[in-house]
Amino acid sequence: MSRLIRAVIDTAALRSNLDRIRSAAGRRRVLAVVKANGYGHGASTVARALGAADAFGVARLDEGVALRDAGVTHPILLLEGVVTREQLHEAAARRLDLVVHEPGQVALLEAWRGPHRFGIWLKLDTGMHRLGFPVREAAAVRARLAALAVPAASVRVMTHFARADERDCPETGAQVARFEAAVARFGLETSLCNSAGLFGWPAAGGDWVRPGLSLYGVSPFAGESAASLGLAPVMTLTTTVIATRAVARGESVGYGGLWRAARDSRVAVLAAGYADGLLRGLPNGAPVALCGVRAPLVGRVSMDMIAVDVTDLPPVEVGMPAELWGPALAVEEVASSAGTLAYELLCGVTQRVERITI
Ligand SMILES: Cc1ncc(COP(=O)(O)O)c(C=O)c1O
Repeated sequence: MSRLIRAVIDTAALRSNLDRIRSAAGRRRVLAVVKANGYGHGASTVARALGAADAFGVARLDEGVALRDAGVTHPILLLEGVVTREQLHEAAARRLDLVVHEPGQVALLEAWRGPHRFGIWLKLDTGMHRLGFPVREAAAVRARLAALAVPAASVRVMTHFARADERDCPETGAQVARFEAAVARFGLETSLCNSAGLFGWPAAGGDWVRPGLSLYGVSPFAGESAASLGLAPVMTLTTTVIATRAVARGESVGYGGLWRAARDSRVAVLAAGYADGLLRGLPNGAPVALCGVRAPLVGRVSMDMIAVDVTDLPPVEVGMPAELWGPALAVEEVASSAGTLAYELLCGVTQRVERITI
């Protein structure tokens, strides 16, 4: 243990979450989403631990190449596909499957003359209005993909939900209906569900699910814990107390004097700041766990440090560990106190933080 702040990655939790996802997915296959460095957990670490997944999904070419360089032999899908001819060649050389979501990508494939036969996922826009062909164009694009000079190894069809994390929102059901109507006669494998779709919309169906967040033991639903979904946190972000001090009533702590002691207090200073990925917007009162007990953040998050009011805790000493999130403190709760989502906190953990795999 050389660094003061560490992200401990629990591969047993990863595997147990995959098992839980499989039981929710039924007969559907699992494409494990490991983009953005495995949501901050380390893409190759996650892929190695999840050898039982059917395929992996990343956003971009370089992420797929990195997984191949790490020795991953599973199918790997580029969820944004490729943009240029050079990228198409690289994807072929690395046997990376492609999402096709816009006309230029169809044209690239039509011009492809290499020996490699691509695995293709045709993406339809059923309501997200970000990537994907309008459903009215689905049949025409599908016909073009069926007529490629170098036939595809497989063509599948997918869509992505905009609001599946809102359990009562009718838009997800409407997206499912639009998708099913568009692909009904295709006879192709399909994929609709991210984590929220998988756990919140069991009727959404398809042949593949594409979970990201839930693999990492995080609930996609506000107000519903991961534990209630049978998921276990994978990342524990722990740091170290580097100073303790008395702060007299009326004195302030940190830049801008954002927190002023309402009583004589004891404050612990922890080695964790926005250069490690903590959000500067974390307010006074955001939770930190010391010795398994919660204590409130006080004052501004600075680049390398935060301060915590430990007046009500048993004695805290320099060198003691503190949990920023993990089993004692859900990352969802920390995110919510900063007005954001766990996705942003997990992906934001910086290189300075040592990753330890257990
Ligand atoms: C196309 C696609 N599928 C699946 C996922 C995984 O979503 P989640 O992490 O919410 O499970 C994402 C993530 O953004 C995505 O873009």
